[in-house]
Amino acid sequence: MLRGKTIVLGISGGIAAYKAAALCSKLVQAGVTVRVIMTESAAKFITPLTLQTLSRHPVYLDTFDEFDPAVVSHINLADSADLVIIAPATANILAKMAAGLADDMLSTTLLATTAPVLVAPAMNVHMYAHPAVERNMELLAERGVKFVEPGTGQLACGYVGKGRLAEPEEIVRAAEQWFTQRDKLTGKRVLVTAGGTVERLDAVRYLTNDSSGKMGFAIAEAAVNRGAEVTLIAARATAAPIAGVTMINVESAEQMYNSVMERYEAADIVVKAAAVADYRPLVRSEGKIKKTEERLVIELERTTDILKTLGERKAGQFLVGFAAETDQIEHYAMDKLRRKNCDLVVANNVSQEGAGFNLDTNIVQVFGEEGLIESMPLLQKREVADRLLTLITDRMAAKGAGE
Ligand code: CTP
Repeated sequence: MLRGKTIVLGISGGIAAYKAAALCSKLVQAGVTVRVIMTESAAKFITPLTLQTLSRHPVYLDTFDEFDPAVVSHINLADSADLVIIAPATANILAKMAAGLADDMLSTTLLATTAPVLVAPAMNVHMYAHPAVERNMELLAERGVKFVEPGTGQLACGYVGKGRLAEPEEIVRAAEQWFTQRDKLTGKRVLVTAGGTVERLDAVRYLTNDSSGKMGFAIAEAAVNRGAEVTLIAARATAAPIAGVTMINVESAEQMYNSVMERYEAADIVVKAAAVADYRPLVRSEGKIKKTEERLVIELERTTDILKTLGERKAGQFLVGFAAETDQIEHYAMDKLRRKNCDLVVANNVSQEGAGFNLDTNIVQVFGEEGLIESMPLLQKREVADRLLTLITDRMAAKGAGE
């Protein structure tokens, strides 16, 4: 599972730094290329030579350790990582990560990497429970950082409690799990819709909604990062295009319908995060509608419900719908799930602060045929997307096993 992967192992300065040697050795034995970065304090607990010998690579301590003039070390390390593990992670490195500081080689590399980060904290029990440390960890979790929780027991400082670095085997297992999870989407064809549709009224006016497309774009990005072949059908959206994703721009619900239908048969997973208009103007004027002294009445007609049609024509695809609600979330979400024959419905309570349109965060509840299956706290949309994909792949695997 880990063979051929590159892991950057960050070691910060706590007594548990000695355990990082065992961790490094286990990773190397598993076929991983391990590149070690130590903080200055870590080097007081364990020598860089130990890690250099175990990893068979130079150990980086200083931002200006440039072993190869052809590359900039911290960028090269950041780019080469499939995964970054920080073990042990002290309260100090957690605070630096939360604040985005870059004052040594480890924190600078962490800021420069786009690789996932797995953190194994270790510290005194009171430090671990300190509100500042808790808040930093919450913030990092919202950004998608994964944690291997410390164990409870006798601590080097004399206290008994939570704060002991997880055992190296457990950290290796967490890394394996991360890759297993990621690889479950490799080669799968994922179709995502995002943004708000635009329904033209005349040459210059239209009906639309507040959707930014951020949730759908985050799902497309998370899916491509997990090795999926992703097509993103985007209506009006402010989110930035994503490398590696095939993007199709559409405007109206009708165009989205046609574009989705064309690709439905070939898709394994369809996620309908778009805010599709339920109504469009019955008549679209070619020119600009001129004002008069009279009232203007615009007649609207229903658009085709894309998700419902997908549900009716489902032939093995895994179908995920979205629901924006303000009350009776469970009732409406379950109703949508059944009516539209979805495998999952992701409901957000748009009346809650931090959830819904045009934000970088969301608070969602995910429903399956048996009811509520996961209630997520306030999270960055990227993290919501990632957790959602884990749910999807788990449910698909269970469905496949049951058939
Ligand atoms: N949807 C769709 N085609 C439409 C309308 C909605 O595919 N013409 C999809 C959305 O992409 C989303 C889900 O259906 O996945 C939302 O369901 P919908 O019943 O339209 O939600 P609301 O409009 O919020 O529902 P309601 O009007 O019942 O509050």
